[in-house]
Amino acid sequence: MGRRRKKSIPNVVITGMADKGKAVGRDDEGMVVFVEGAVPGDRLDVLGLRKKKGFWNGVPEKFIEYSPDRTDPRCKHFGNCGGCKWQNLTYEAQLRHKHKIVTDAFQRLAKVEVGETHDILGAEKVFNYRNKLTYSFTNLRWVPQEVLDSGVEVDFSNGLGFFRAGSFSKVVNIEQCHLQEDETNRIRNYVKEYALKNELTFHNPFKHEGFLRNIILRSNRKGEWMFIIVIYEENMEVISDLLESIDNEFQEINSCWYCVNPKMNDSIHDLEVKHFSGERYLSESLGDVQFNVGPKSFFQTNTFQAERLYESIREFADFDGHENVYDLYTGLGSIALFVAKHCKQVVGIEEIEAAIEDAKMNTQLNGIDNAVFYAGDVKNILTDEFANKHGKPDLLITDPPRAGMHEDVVKMLLKLEAPKIVYVSCNPATQARDIKLLDEKYRVKKIRPVDMFPHTNHVENVALLELKLDE
Ligand SMILES: C[S@@+](CC[C@H](N)C(=O)[O-])C[C@H]1O[C@@H](n2cnc3c(N)ncnc32)[C@H](O)[C@@H]1O
Repeated sequence: MGRRRKKSIPNVVITGMADKGKAVGRDDEGMVVFVEGAVPGDRLDVLGLRKKKGFWNGVPEKFIEYSPDRTDPRCKHFGNCGGCKWQNLTYEAQLRHKHKIVTDAFQRLAKVEVGETHDILGAEKVFNYRNKLTYSFTNLRWVPQEVLDSGVEVDFSNGLGFFRAGSFSKVVNIEQCHLQEDETNRIRNYVKEYALKNELTFHNPFKHEGFLRNIILRSNRKGEWMFIIVIYEENMEVISDLLESIDNEFQEINSCWYCVNPKMNDSIHDLEVKHFSGERYLSESLGDVQFNVGPKSFFQTNTFQAERLYESIREFADFDGHENVYDLYTGLGSIALFVAKHCKQVVGIEEIEAAIEDAKMNTQLNGIDNAVFYAGDVKNILTDEFANKHGKPDLLITDPPRAGMHEDVVKMLLKLEAPKIVYVSCNPATQARDIKLLDEKYRVKKIRPVDMFPHTNHVENVALLELKLDE
């Protein structure tokens, strides 16, 4: 096999932000170059690392001009850790670029006319906004190249932190993270010190050995915490000692769990999470709706912005109280329950059964009597018989995963002809694709991007579609 040829690409002007946190620009010849670590407005020489059809991927070689939109990243792990890749861009510029990602998707991909394009809803809290983080143990931590090159003594040993971007084996040891309230740092660092002191083994994903695998920390806005430890094999003596020590050290942790994961992957959705001590749920509210969030519950990870997102959904829906509403991809029913008291009835569909159990529990918890939930794939559940049973929807809310809706679901939506659709998406590209298909019967009345994840390339968008009346 030949060696990959690197190439110096002079004078690249960066014009936009692209997928996976990279910036994109062109050189003097108009060639497209994706650059790690640059921001729009930078002019620089790039070291091209990989040539693909018609473009290069590279890293900065020498900056010629810095963008006025640059800022110093707050996090000391910036550039190494896989998260928060936009931290070197001012928040104002982040919002501008996210807005552009959404409008570009509608103009260039969907090629549909949009009635009103609202300003992006930025976050007030741009750090410490997450209510859940998962850290991974490793006995072979990843070390940046510049540290290896510097000749200093390197500690490759046990670490606890986040994966590098795009990797499921390279863990960056984290000392401080700004995504969750600071307890996250105290708890994570304590667990690591405890494990080292007690000579517990850290996981090695290549050899598939090592006792400690992950910790998951959930928190609510009242400052209560849930602690979940994932280990490779059941050893009650060790687990009890560790969890008791954590329980004693942190008064704010009021729910402790553990999970044995002997699998090759880190997902715990198909595993039993066992209760060790304290409460079984963290309680959180969105608007005036209460949610009990368990160790495996899917819950919007930015509670503050979720509330604003849901308010936008309610505003776009413009309820008169008589609507029959379908909420597709409902998760634990959070949108459905948020809108329930504004409409006649709401029917939620979600494929994860445990989430539907949570939805039903939260329905009861809130004394809501006009919401029903079904577990299964939307593609299979949303049929003519289903619509006959529940009545045709006056409003259909859909919030699919990043992949967007299955083509059969789009076809069903066209058949159902709900007068209004509120389409919520975390991926403007697939949202634009689906809306292009819906264009046959629907026009886009308005859109509003919402920033749920500051410092990342992710953006949420709410679109209101209205059924075209015969013209
Ligand atoms: C973006 S989340 C939205 C959750 C919820 N609407 C909320 O605001 O919290 C997408 C949800 O769709 C569910 N899902 C993914 N594919 C599905 C499918 N084919 N049928 C039903 N639900 C699906 C996922 O489990 C997840 O809960």
